[in-house]
Amino acid sequence: MSRGAFFCLFFHKASRRTGRPKRAGDPPGTGRGEGMAVKFQSVAGMKDILPEETPLWQDLEKVLREVVRSYGYAEIRMPAVESTSLFVRSIGEVTDVVEKEMYTFDDNGDSLSLRPEGTAGCVRACIESGIIHNQERRLWYMGPMFRHERPQKGRYRQFHQFGVEVFGLAGPEIEAELILMIARIWRIFGISDRLTLELNSLGTPEERVAYRASLVDYLRAHQDQLDDDSRRRMETNPLRVLDSKDPGVQEVLSGAPVLSSCFGEETRQRFERLQQILRDAGVPFKINERLVRGLDYYSHTVFEWVTDALGAQSTVCGGGRYDGLVEQLGGHSTPAVGFAIGLERMVLLLKTLEACSAAPAAADVYLCAMGDEAVRRSFILGEQIRSEVPGIRLLTNCAGGAFRKQFRRADQSGAAFALILGESELEQGMVGIKDLRQGTEQRNVPWGEAAAELKNLLGV
Ligand code: HAM
Repeated sequence: MSRGAFFCLFFHKASRRTGRPKRAGDPPGTGRGEGMAVKFQSVAGMKDILPEETPLWQDLEKVLREVVRSYGYAEIRMPAVESTSLFVRSIGEVTDVVEKEMYTFDDNGDSLSLRPEGTAGCVRACIESGIIHNQERRLWYMGPMFRHERPQKGRYRQFHQFGVEVFGLAGPEIEAELILMIARIWRIFGISDRLTLELNSLGTPEERVAYRASLVDYLRAHQDQLDDDSRRRMETNPLRVLDSKDPGVQEVLSGAPVLSSCFGEETRQRFERLQQILRDAGVPFKINERLVRGLDYYSHTVFEWVTDALGAQSTVCGGGRYDGLVEQLGGHSTPAVGFAIGLERMVLLLKTLEACSAAPAAADVYLCAMGDEAVRRSFILGEQIRSEVPGIRLLTNCAGGAFRKQFRRADQSGAAFALILGESELEQGMVGIKDLRQGTEQRNVPWGEAAAELKNLLGV
């Protein structure tokens, strides 16, 4: 598919004059003063996707579906709400997501949370249904996720992920398949040159235990240079300190021991094999020894695709291997690996890089009718044409008015042709056709030939 097939939005933001009630004490929904209507705003960090933007989303979703289909993946759909403990057990107690970002609520004594990501729910669903027991599974999902983060460009409280999870395959080959699949997605959109693949291995749990000890020794020796968060995490989950964005901590980390120094031969070899396949396939990557990801379930390979085009929220896709998670959540020990693309960031990237073309008009044909009888008959004509011209987008006037006014509306709709049904056309059994873009005169065709004529004109 070519880049030209993607739509871009050149729309202006609707002005935000509407708002919450201004006075803190005002009860929501009633407004200040008797009978005054209140205009509501969306919740901070939760955006509407307006009709000007949905064609781009639909196109993106379509391409993603086609790509995973071409690799033989099947869709799974999970609920947006799960038990809070599922996320705590899988993502990890000492992570930003679980400590600060979950939308958690009490449901008659059960603690439930809006899903902050898809992996935990996917694993839960697979164990519960038994579909990964002694079986390979290649799955994908798409949908909203929720994290109570500070909203900014590219970071929202409701956002969408396109995720892939594979179960039952233990080797680096499947990791290579996932990375090649993602590289294909970037290529289709023509944005490969603005995305960099960062790769790391977190080794085995045993190797991480050894590393943890040497990291903690190092961090203890530099305690006074750490911020409070990192000092706390040093005791509870020291690998998370590697995630710190604090510049002082970053500096301390530049002298810290690296995880790869604790790797045994097997880990080294499997990581090298993945790199070899990627080199053979011509997918460039950068090893980032500090890449640990923000979720605790990973082991061995982890990766992120980052861009220089979006500012601070630069990670468009992240993933890795999580062999221990299925067992940890009560299933049989099963190797697993996956990734998720943040769709808002992908859309932002496509818009920023103008890797999409202008949004198409909403209609091909605008049906104008005037006079009581003609308006009634126009519905029959419209239905007939929709049945006979597959894929046609036909807008019916539905707003009355003189033909001059209807033609103005037809023009604004972006339609290429107007169909005209007035009293005289009706009497003669004819339908008028007018080319709106060429501005040529109306010509009439018999009612029964209108659909064929449109097929011809639209080239369908
Ligand atoms: P994650 O890195 O937490 O991984 O999220 C994946 C992607 O979701 C990020 O790279 C980013 O593009 C997007 N994202 C995350 N938070 C936000 C936000 N607040 N606003 C907008 N976009 C956001 C996971 O969620 C793992 N479940 C991925 C995975 C699947 N690993 C294995 N399988």
